Amino acid sequence: MPEYIGPNAMPKKIIPIIDYRHSKTAPVIPAVIEEPNGLIGDAFGRPLQDLRISLTDRCNFRCVYCMPIESFGKDHVFMPRASMMTFEEITRIAQIFVNHGVQKIRLTGGEPLLRKHVENLIEMLAKLKTYDGSDLDLTLTTNGALLGKKAQSLKDAGLNRVTVSLDSLDDATFKRMNGVDFPVSDVLRSLDVAHSVGLGPIKVNMVVKSGMNDQEIVPMARYFKDSPFILRFIEYMDVGTSNHWEMGEVIPSAEVVRRISAHMPLEEIEPNYTGETAERWRYQDGGGEIGVISSITKTFCHECVRARLSTEGKLYTCLFAESGHDLRALMQSGKTDQEISTALAHLWRLRADRYSELRSANTKSKTQTGKKIEMSYIGG
Ligand code: GTP
Ligand code: 5AD
Ligand code: SF4
Ligand code: SF4
Repeated sequence: MPEYIGPNAMPKKIIPIIDYRHSKTAPVIPAVIEEPNGLIGDAFGRPLQDLRISLTDRCNFRCVYCMPIESFGKDHVFMPRASMMTFEEITRIAQIFVNHGVQKIRLTGGEPLLRKHVENLIEMLAKLKTYDGSDLDLTLTTNGALLGKKAQSLKDAGLNRVTVSLDSLDDATFKRMNGVDFPVSDVLRSLDVAHSVGLGPIKVNMVVKSGMNDQEIVPMARYFKDSPFILRFIEYMDVGTSNHWEMGEVIPSAEVVRRISAHMPLEEIEPNYTGETAERWRYQDGGGEIGVISSITKTFCHECVRARLSTEGKLYTCLFAESGHDLRALMQSGKTDQEISTALAHLWRLRADRYSELRSANTKSKTQTGKKIEMSYIGG
């Protein structure tokens, strides 16, 4: 493993990404400590319901839209293990979020199944109860490479369901997109194993990048129609800076629906819950449903109830936030749960992020200063 030499480290021979991982702010602890009541609203009244926890910044894939090999080559400096939150710290902080109303926890990465003994963490998180005493919706996003092997132990540990990324059924296209020559057949096998052990409903996420895999929209739809899997098409997003995103590479969801409907007619259906990222469509012949996630052409910031916790324990209130709030530092400096909980409530109340809406208002391009963290660091 390369030696960790800090934020300004410049690996040799690869295209450097600008590294904003180290940008953080110290959360303020308000003077008056408050008891959580399972409901806090941000500056726009959006509650805190969904927590995504990144377990590692490493991945065994190099997807062109997330960790392109030119930027994440052999010499890329990943986070040292000592910087990662321990399972005890993750569980402690998760409990504090749950007390404020979180109902769903999604484990992400990088690739979360690369985190050693992830089953132990799942066992710990599965014991948490929502504010009103129900079980959490405990889920995980994976590229599927290790899922076949781990599905049973994940289920036994208490994981409810998984979401699996798959961008193509064509081996050559998939290998070009995942950057590591990983074959489609292994992901399909993992999907079957995950289904057979009961990790459903399983969603399959396909990021559509024009000129790369858009010819796979209809074959993917056809393959997963009448199957137990829910395929979701995701508009390629301008997250991070390493993918050199351009608007011209986005296929709007409306076009995805149009292309599929031309062969297999679709009709729109109601969301499962307020703030769902995907718009749902079902086949008119009863062959199941698909989802489209329109982070570019039909933004959903107004209903965004998601908080993200980085591997190091920084809270990001938006996928596109420029810096995180260092919650782990509060734990390490001996703050009590009540103090951290009050600090979190304070941060959430101030939250006014709506990056995608502002980007849309600005049409074609990006709004911020360009200081964006990578999705592999903060999780999908
Ligand atoms: P369910 O719990 O199954 O409803 O899944 P989900 O849609 O909440 O989560 P998932 O991680 O599967 O989200 C799918 C994709 O939507 C992600 O990989 C991102 O591409 C995109 N996405 C998710 N959350 C956000 C968000 O808060 N903002 C933006 N802009 N995109 C998001
Ligand atoms: N655009 C859209 N989704 C992305 N993901 C990663 N990078 C991007 C991007 N640039 C999402 C994909 C993948 C998950 C892990 O992260 O949905 O399945
Ligand atoms: Fe890895 Fe997922 Fe990013 Fe692909 S999208 S590089 S599988 S973290
Ligand atoms: Fe939420 Fe930020 Fe995504 Fe908007 S851009 S939906 S505020 S994470």
